[in-house]
Amino acid sequence: MDKNQMMERAEILVGAVDDLPTIPVVATKVLQLLDDPDVQVEEIADLMLSDQVMTARVMKLINSPVYKPTQEITSLKRALVYLGLRHVRELALTTSVIDVFGGTSGALELNAFWEHSFGVGMVSKIIAQKIGYEDLEKAYISGIIHDLGEVFLSNFLQEPFMEVLEYIKAHPVKLIDAEAQLLGTTHCEIGLSMARKWNFPDAYCDVIEHHHNPGSATVDPILCAIVNISDLFCSVRGLNYGGREWISFNLSEEEAWTILKNKAPGLAQMDIERFCYELDDAVPDVSALVSAIFNSPEKAKP
Ligand SMILES: [Fe+2]
Ligand SMILES: [Fe+2]
Repeated sequence: MDKNQMMERAEILVGAVDDLPTIPVVATKVLQLLDDPDVQVEEIADLMLSDQVMTARVMKLINSPVYKPTQEITSLKRALVYLGLRHVRELALTTSVIDVFGGTSGALELNAFWEHSFGVGMVSKIIAQKIGYEDLEKAYISGIIHDLGEVFLSNFLQEPFMEVLEYIKAHPVKLIDAEAQLLGTTHCEIGLSMARKWNFPDAYCDVIEHHHNPGSATVDPILCAIVNISDLFCSVRGLNYGGREWISFNLSEEEAWTILKNKAPGLAQMDIERFCYELDDAVPDVSALVSAIFNSPEKAKP
């Protein structure tokens, strides 16, 4: 099955779902407002406060280990000032994606899935920092949404996807290869099809489509390579989902590693073992963050 056929199949599957969740109206409005260079923090805060779930999630994210404020931030306006309006766009997008899919049950164990996603987000940010990638926030968000297509498969193709998950428990193949073989498409094409429907920015579409083959990325191969390596690290460090993935990897043989070394030649000297210990330290933070986000939202003060 070639790439075009898999894309066609993904479009058909996504198109066939009448009740595909949509991104909340507030998120779209926030995105539009932020296009206005004269927009005031108050306007954005007022708009976001009209959506209590989004507000609560933003507050949890801002107080999480990812942003490390020196003291707890309790008002949304202060959160937006602390974060900077530049980052609000991404935050609105992420919290909405979580909101749309976070609570629904399907074939996947959702906590494990989001732990993987946030883990890949955090590790992507760490790698981005190490190689001097200019937009750490973008790396973080890309990590969180890279496997979005899996949530679709888990929810809307529940039984066939269960078979895929069973299959990889018994056969030494990667999840993505089992999907191609048994479903005729993969979470990458499915995710891309959804991301396009939701008008995600091109760089995020690129990551969703190419995080397993960053060499084919067309918009931002470095970003795709960051997420690819981060995905591999998380999978071998226990931040994984969907049963055994038969993952072992040798960094020097990874296409993504070559892409990153071209960007940051100093990477070749990186102490991989030490890096892995750093990641192990981050695992409890990720688990705490995910349980914080999915616990019942609290009301935030304006
Ligand atoms: Fe993936
Ligand atoms: Fe992944």
